[in-house]
Amino acid sequence: MTELDLKTSTTDPARPGVRGGWRTPDRLYRLISSPVLRMILGWDLPRYDLRVVERRAGTVCMEVGSGGGFYTTALKTHLGSENTLIALDPSPSAMQSLRHRLDGVPGARMSYLAGDGCKLPLADDQADTLFYGYSLEEMPDPLAAMREAHRVLRPGGELVLFLWRPVFTRHRRRPVVALLDELFERRRTSAGPQNIRLVYRKPAE
Ligand SMILES: C[S@@+](CC[C@H](N)C(=O)[O-])C[C@H]1O[C@@H](n2cnc3c(N)ncnc32)[C@H](O)[C@@H]1O
Repeated sequence: MTELDLKTSTTDPARPGVRGGWRTPDRLYRLISSPVLRMILGWDLPRYDLRVVERRAGTVCMEVGSGGGFYTTALKTHLGSENTLIALDPSPSAMQSLRHRLDGVPGARMSYLAGDGCKLPLADDQADTLFYGYSLEEMPDPLAAMREAHRVLRPGGELVLFLWRPVFTRHRRRPVVALLDELFERRRTSAGPQNIRLVYRKPAE
């Protein structure tokens, strides 16, 4: 964490001033966090899904909206010890429990930040990869969030988005996807009954 210019941390006691659009109710989130259920529904197999995330030694990856950490363990393992993973979520308590849970799990060096995806605590061009696992749909301003993604990604950096269709409806998605297609190069699209997965790259300068 010291090498990076991170502007907030879990030691910051104030919960960032984030107002959500959609909020997944806690009970529903607990239910859909069951790996078995997600697997049966056919839309989430973290180790498999995360193969689209590039890894090269020295990569700085931020998971924006890590919540209960459904993807974080697999992402940490996938990236490996030569890389850095920053888990970010507005909830300081979620970040604290994630820190405890992942302590000792082999993989990437970790930082845990309480923060807002619409105002990322990174300098321009600092991140190699940004990963959003069903979190963009909860952000109060998804367009601002994607402009932030563009600001903090280095040229050539990768943006990986998993979107939950029932919440991020076509009407809500359309302006976001239009902005993404304008700012980034689309590399991969896949869609299932429950989700859409998009991989973009920030154009090299
Ligand atoms: C449906 S949960 C998904 C969590 C986790 N990635 C998963 O797949 O289980 C949505 C997450 O987005 C987070 N979130 C909501 N608003 C946010 C914001 N403005 N910036 C970053 N994350 C946000 C929530 O706190 C929550 O953890």
